[in-house]
Amino acid sequence: MRLYSLLAAAKINLYLEIMGHRRDGFHELVMVMQSVDLADRVTVRSLPSSEIRVQCDHPLVPQDATNLAHRAAALMAAKYPQAHHHHGGVEISIEKQIPVGAGLAGGSANAAAVLVGLDMLWQLGLTQGELQTLGAELGSDVPFCIGGGTAIATGRGEQLDSLPSPPNLYAVLGKYQSLSVSTPWAYGTYRQQFEATYLQGDEAHSRRRQALHSGPMVSAIAHQDSPALGKALYNDLEKVVLPAHPAVADLKAAMVAAGGLGTLMSGSGPTVFTLTTTREAAETIQEQVRDRLADPDLALWVTRFSSTGVQLTA
Ligand code: C5P
Repeated sequence: MRLYSLLAAAKINLYLEIMGHRRDGFHELVMVMQSVDLADRVTVRSLPSSEIRVQCDHPLVPQDATNLAHRAAALMAAKYPQAHHHHGGVEISIEKQIPVGAGLAGGSANAAAVLVGLDMLWQLGLTQGELQTLGAELGSDVPFCIGGGTAIATGRGEQLDSLPSPPNLYAVLGKYQSLSVSTPWAYGTYRQQFEATYLQGDEAHSRRRQALHSGPMVSAIAHQDSPALGKALYNDLEKVVLPAHPAVADLKAAMVAAGGLGTLMSGSGPTVFTLTTTREAAETIQEQVRDRLADPDLALWVTRFSSTGVQLTA
């Protein structure tokens, strides 16, 4: 087979706590990540030449070597030069459904799909652990995006512990289409404002990690307790993104007023989500928020928790 078509799922953060500095300049995090069924389609196709090509139907996605999906293929070619030589280059086509610069790991999901797709195209037989190690070289969210589901992510976000299946929830996602937030900006601004509160030392970080493992979010997931899960939603980055973007704070307020189980900004934003137990409740909230804010720039999606990251499709 010279072509594989994959679905690459978006993620939301049910929990994101910034613990402190890391020696590599990144932040030490404790997060709970959840895949949702909003997904991009990524097709990888062998080329007779050794070239790596990316094409995408979204105007804001670069089609050159700066695209994370292109970097994923270049990394595979560098690690497995014989397979690259033997099977040739690759054309990567990305059909975008996941909004860009949204805090939903769309770019990371695309890169994860390229790793999985090239593993199959080049018949490498890599394990999920090996793919995750490669993914961590590309970005902190890439390892999670490979397997998806529900996981605790620590370290930079690349250290994963899978969690039991959460309750079957729906997430209404809302994002102003013209607004995106730069992740380095969000973390950099957080550092400027909250550095004094950072936990110091590996031991303090490890105690906090342990606390999350036995904390309300993980307990709500383990007990399939949807109301408790809604109450345990938390994201430190809201403290910098909401004040800088009042429209996002207003969107969050509108979602809270619509009465879901709980409402949160995902990752570095600006996507905000609210959780419900049924599709009907999610669609009602979607309509209420659309009517209340009445802004054509606001896009809303009803999604469902998903147990997969990258998935082969027909
Ligand atoms: O790993 P990724 O490329 O997605 O990270 C994007 C940016 O987010 C980093 O350059 C850094 O500024 C910030 N970041 C961080 N600590 C993390 C993850 C990301 O400071 N654990």
